[in-house]
Amino acid sequence: MYKVNGRRSLDTIEQTETPYFDALVNYVQEEHIPFHVPGHKQGKGVHPKIKEVFGERVFQLDLCSGLEGIDDHSQPRAVLMEAEHLAAKAYGADQTFFLSNGSTQGNYAMLMSFCGHGEKIIIPRNAHRSIVSGLILSGAAPVYVNPEVDEELHIAHNVTAESVEEALIANPDAKAVLLVSPTYYGVSCDLRRIAETVHSHNKPLLVDEAWGPHFAFHPDLPESALSAGADVCVTGIHKLLSGFTQSSMLHVRTERANLAHINSMLRIIQSTSPSCLLLASLDVARMQMATEGERLLSIAIELAQDARSRINDVSGIYSFGREIIGRPGVADIDPTRLSVRVVDTGFSGYAVDRILRRSYGIQVELSDLFNVLFNVTIGDRPEDLEKLVVALADFAASAGYRWPDYDSMRLGSGYRKRLRIPHQPEQAMSPREAFFAKHETVPLEISTGKVCAEIVASYPPGIPALSPGERITRELVDYLNAELAAGIYIQGPEDPTLATIKVVAEG
Ligand SMILES: Cc1ncc(COP(=O)(O)O)c(C=O)c1O
Repeated sequence: MYKVNGRRSLDTIEQTETPYFDALVNYVQEEHIPFHVPGHKQGKGVHPKIKEVFGERVFQLDLCSGLEGIDDHSQPRAVLMEAEHLAAKAYGADQTFFLSNGSTQGNYAMLMSFCGHGEKIIIPRNAHRSIVSGLILSGAAPVYVNPEVDEELHIAHNVTAESVEEALIANPDAKAVLLVSPTYYGVSCDLRRIAETVHSHNKPLLVDEAWGPHFAFHPDLPESALSAGADVCVTGIHKLLSGFTQSSMLHVRTERANLAHINSMLRIIQSTSPSCLLLASLDVARMQMATEGERLLSIAIELAQDARSRINDVSGIYSFGREIIGRPGVADIDPTRLSVRVVDTGFSGYAVDRILRRSYGIQVELSDLFNVLFNVTIGDRPEDLEKLVVALADFAASAGYRWPDYDSMRLGSGYRKRLRIPHQPEQAMSPREAFFAKHETVPLEISTGKVCAEIVASYPPGIPALSPGERITRELVDYLNAELAAGIYIQGPEDPTLATIKVVAEG
């Protein structure tokens, strides 16, 4: 039997322990007759079709929070409190909250806790769409800061300390600064300097660290947000560690944050039935990192570094590494993220994404116009990286004459000019005002000058090209048309073909 003890002093619990996971397993072993949700009654009611594939165990463990022995997610007092305490210690927080609705939930909670209706918050323009959705929910007024754009890689990196300082000086009434670091491509900003700047203005620094859940556990990775001075941050455990999909954590330092307020915001936006499977996976993922994270991450870093240098021996493709540190908006890079620039092969990243999937059995994390991105994690093996390097080399060597099925996806001449990342549009209204305003649907072609009423984001990476409240420009319409022609998948708008767009009705 797993040993469960929910009432001991928190200081006596070790990082080797997994109190929440153990309690869940213990509950199942006790074999109660379940007259409670979920309706499948620990698997007895599920169709054999799903049981055959998923197995029985997963249904036995699929319990709801609040049962005696496995604690109450909305008010943890025993094993979940212990598990969250261990996570807080491992990450260097005063309090950690386990999230079962992804980092999206963490971003909503950060925004809603620090910034109410009509209040200003400083945000990078390339923030993830979950942050824009958080602005719609909270009614906050974004003060966008432009990230530094790397034209060579066609990637928006981070904002600089100088641009954050300028925004703080120009907006002394802003309630907080919310940054995204690292970016989807694993590029970190100078969080330490920015934290000092933000704190010198007496404001809290909130960080969407969805792509940095491993940073706290290896010295060769960028400094973690909390260690650099962030007051609150979200870490996407499921993205690069071993938590189940949708499992994430919100970490809080209490000097500039009101725990009770954050807690109540979390309760508003989260399901009242969080999956115990997800919470248990967070507990074990933390234990795994705290006890053997450095060793496991060393292997992942070495695999990625080796693959990077072999990819860079191949003509026509390029995977950036530490040499880009020091470029505007690049304070550090995560060596486990392999972003490969493929545009010089004549194909867009979207085309290479499909070729790799259909002809080499390789699935990328993300593709954009110029690049494809691969995550290397503690789950990868040398043979996986070997196959990736061989596939990329084979593709690059044959890109000029093979792949006739993808000829329509060749970029042709002049694409660089057509696809230059557009300038930030004017913010005519707050995202919430525009989202809920009386609207009309017009052809994209004639939308120039109108105020956008929906999120228009290329997916991945889910960074909005247009957000609600922004005035549509000709440059943006041309850019979106060029992206569509290159095969991009647009997320957010009601019409995903973008033949039409929802705008705020005039008059
Ligand atoms: C920077 C960033 N923040 C937040 C999110 C949302 O995370 P989740 O999918 O866990 O809700 C994503 C998802 O890709 C992301 O890239």
